[in-house]
Amino acid sequence: MDKKTVIISLGGSLIVPEEIDWKFVKKFKALIEEQIKKGYKFILITGGGKTARKYIDAAAKVDNITDDDKDWIGIHATRMNAHFIRTIFRKHAHPRINKNPHDLEDFYDFKEDILVAAGWRPGFSTDFDAVLLAKYLDIKTIINLSNIDYVCDKDPRKFPDCKKIKEMSWAEFRKMVGNKWDPGMNAPFDPIASKEAQENNLEVAIMNGKNLPNLKNYLEGKKAKGTIIK
Ligand code: UTP
Repeated sequence: MDKKTVIISLGGSLIVPEEIDWKFVKKFKALIEEQIKKGYKFILITGGGKTARKYIDAAAKVDNITDDDKDWIGIHATRMNAHFIRTIFRKHAHPRINKNPHDLEDFYDFKEDILVAAGWRPGFSTDFDAVLLAKYLDIKTIINLSNIDYVCDKDPRKFPDCKKIKEMSWAEFRKMVGNKWDPGMNAPFDPIASKEAQENNLEVAIMNGKNLPNLKNYLEGKKAKGTIIK
């Protein structure tokens, strides 16, 4: 690829924390467009956020639903968000959304400045999809934007005195998150995606997407908050 391409996994909690956070999306768009002017290209993978959770909870109240079906609802939420993001970046984005990270035939060497991707199939997460896209497109770093500043040594909701981790190995991180995938689980980066990232020597930067000046610093190679896993 000619220009420097950055992969951002845009956590659903940023797009739809409760309602759709269009103010965040507007500021995110401005930052991405500024970086495009500087010559960057972006792959944006969108999560499902509250849309996924609300539909899953509603369906479970009406009938017994399987884990597979929960995942499918989640996948469709990621696709709705992907369509939303593709629409607001219409001027810059490839018209098709990637929904299968193993099938990049139409997406290699995309000419536009943005490619949007969404969920693929049950048993995975957009973290995993981001890792596969990085692997196939030969991109070494994934920026994983969610609503935490750092990975901590303990759950920060239960232990407010937890220690922030600035850099850690995949072995250390995987000891924390375990090896099992649960639909709707809330690890900073999911266990299966972590295994795949480790095997492919990828680096993942976990940072708070709400702090856009921080993301800008990171993109511009300046000091930034966040946890680097490598
Ligand atoms: P994500 O877990 O990727 O979205 O997908 P998110 O909103 O960023 O997640 P959180 O809030 O940080 O946890 C939402 C759900 O969609 C299903 C999973 O059930 C996942 O929890 N999904 C997504 C899949 O089953 N396969 C995929 O490839 C992607």
